[in-house]
Amino acid sequence: MSYIPFARKYRPKTFKELVGQEIPATILKNAFIYNKVHHAYIFAGHKGTGKTTTARIFAKLLNCLNPQEGEPCNQCQNCIGIEKGSFVDLIEMDAASNRGIDEIRSIKEGANYLPMQGKYKVYIIDEAHMLTKEAFNALLKTIEEPPPSLMFILCTTEFDKIPPTIQSRCQKFMFSKASKQNIKAYLKRIASVENIQIDEEALDIIADLSDDSMRDAASLLDQASTYGNNKVTIDILKAMFGPVDKASIRKFLELLVKSDTKETTAMLQTINERGYNVRLFWEEVYKELKNILRAFAIGDSAEYKEFLSKPLEIYLYLEDIINQGFGAMYQKDPILALEITILKASLIKDFVPISDVFKNNGIPKNSLPQSAPQNPTNTKEQDQSNIQETSAQKKTLNEENAYPETVEKILETFKPAKIIHYEKK
Ligand SMILES: Nc1ncnc2c1ncn2[C@@H]1O[C@H](COP(=O)(O)OP(=O)(O)O)[C@@H](O)[C@H]1O
Ligand SMILES: [Mg+2]
Ligand SMILES: [Zn+2]
Repeated sequence: MSYIPFARKYRPKTFKELVGQEIPATILKNAFIYNKVHHAYIFAGHKGTGKTTTARIFAKLLNCLNPQEGEPCNQCQNCIGIEKGSFVDLIEMDAASNRGIDEIRSIKEGANYLPMQGKYKVYIIDEAHMLTKEAFNALLKTIEEPPPSLMFILCTTEFDKIPPTIQSRCQKFMFSKASKQNIKAYLKRIASVENIQIDEEALDIIADLSDDSMRDAASLLDQASTYGNNKVTIDILKAMFGPVDKASIRKFLELLVKSDTKETTAMLQTINERGYNVRLFWEEVYKELKNILRAFAIGDSAEYKEFLSKPLEIYLYLEDIINQGFGAMYQKDPILALEITILKASLIKDFVPISDVFKNNGIPKNSLPQSAPQNPTNTKEQDQSNIQETSAQKKTLNEENAYPETVEKILETFKPAKIIHYEKK
């Protein structure tokens, strides 16, 4: 028998098997049990969260010869036909590749005929937001007044791109992103059936890399277990995906905070030279930085104690810089662009906490000139005034109660040296 990838092999066959989508599952089950089935639905939400899967389970339920408490039996000829993709009354259309009016016309024509094998003729339109405006218009009338045995399920990752006219004629379900906890539970189930040895830390990494998608999680486990010969460890994941484990990501962030451009650049170079996915690495860095910021926000310092001992400003600045780094991926030389990003991050070492700035009457401590600026073209008089100016500033700094009382006072401090000089004259 040919190999079936995990993401297909472990596609839920019943609502009960569907992980983390209890609301759509319960409503659809009850609609069937209490005879309140609508004729058009929109299943919207993040990729790989079960939209197509739910549409198929529902199509099975509607056509099942022996439904049991709102679940398809998965044994009758109709259920088996749908599983195998040979059931004539289930028509799946991928709107990403069939966007136009011709396809919708053929749906409209087909919709005039009664179902041949089952009770319902079900049209699942995947990536429905890709349909053209004309195609949506053509669909509108059919969705509004369909024959009783017709059912439309529009699946989309971009709900906002579905025209409001269509939205208002459909019952809508929002599929939530897959949580880390649910992803891990799903992976554990696959691992136990497949006899894959995987430890908790490796499960964590796969869940982190899954982009909130069950499909991605299943595919990553598939790939990793093939590589590791049914054993998945951190080392195997690091060998496959690079330094994407938490310890490596944190080390990179620590080095960034220390403005260690040499080490951070070297790390980036290694990732690049070994052919790892740089974007994936950068995404993990960004995710962990957001975790640090969240720890600041909720005051939870247990896990991020080391990071929280530094000023918040550092991480807010890093967030900006690292986020900008994503733009680098689209440049001709992304590594060079990321190296420049690292260089920008190294400015952290010159950071002065805002509280210090105000304590010093608006003058950052380390920005005060220690001696008069050297300018060979200056006249003697100018040099003299510069020296006076510097000692005046120093005096202000040494005043005991250094907090500025008024805005004017702050502005006064910031007046450029030259203007002060001419005014004095
Ligand atoms: N809620 C879920 N519970 C269990 N597995 C899921 C779930 N959502 C997605 N999957 C896994 O991901 C694969 C693709 O799911 P699919 O329903 O096609 O996602 P999409 O939301 O992109 O339509 C399934 O075959 C299954 O392996
Ligand atoms: Mg889908
Ligand atoms: Zn059945």
